[in-house]
Amino acid sequence: MSVITVKANWDNWVYIHPYQADQCWTVDPSDAATVLKSIADTGLCLTHILATHHHADHISGISTLKKTFHCRVFSPDDRRIAGTDVRVKDGDVLKLGQWTVTVLAVPGHTTDSVCYYGTHPTEPPVLYSGDTLFSGGCGRAFECAPETLFHSLQRLAALPDETRIYPGHDYTEENVRFALTLEPDRPALKKMLEAVRTHPAFVPTTLKQEKSINPFLRCHENSIRQAVGLDDPAAVFAELRRRKDRF
Ligand SMILES: [Fe+2]
Repeated sequence: MSVITVKANWDNWVYIHPYQADQCWTVDPSDAATVLKSIADTGLCLTHILATHHHADHISGISTLKKTFHCRVFSPDDRRIAGTDVRVKDGDVLKLGQWTVTVLAVPGHTTDSVCYYGTHPTEPPVLYSGDTLFSGGCGRAFECAPETLFHSLQRLAALPDETRIYPGHDYTEENVRFALTLEPDRPALKKMLEAVRTHPAFVPTTLKQEKSINPFLRCHENSIRQAVGLDDPAAVFAELRRRKDRF
């Protein structure tokens, strides 16, 4: 069974990842009812909840789901995420069926942000990227300097190109429109804008795709540096983030 992708709270993505015939984990359950409805007819039992960071729109469903399934909650912040059973840190590994899920600390959007990177013997790798990496963009640097978020994204950029990325929000159209302000003639961006407008549920994306369309992963490239008039990639990133915050 493939990953179940559901929308909640208007633009949050919630993911349900089956890993055995009758077991699944979920990532950032912003809304318990959405998860319950999505797995009601599947026979799946929820065994693990993985939280990427403490923002309410990613964790509001945890309490109800934990009571319903008696599942274990993994999160990077047991102080700000109620119900945490296991506080994860960078490099921690969870074995879930044949999946090996590795915790990647990616401070920037918040100080506690993590991504979950999953590998499998026969499936492409997956990355649950929370509010750190979106399709076509990235999260705001709410609790850290932009440079911190830049280095976290560089770390994600080093993962395999075929990695399937499951972001925390559906901001793709807005992100691509912003990217087109920098590179109005870039064919990959024009194609992506058309695709996202005719194909609303455009997840997962891939790292290869993001390296082609996401300016926040392309701060080293001349076209982006020229667009903002800066050379240093970290400074380019900070300027992109500043412009996107006002977009
Ligand atoms: Fe967030």
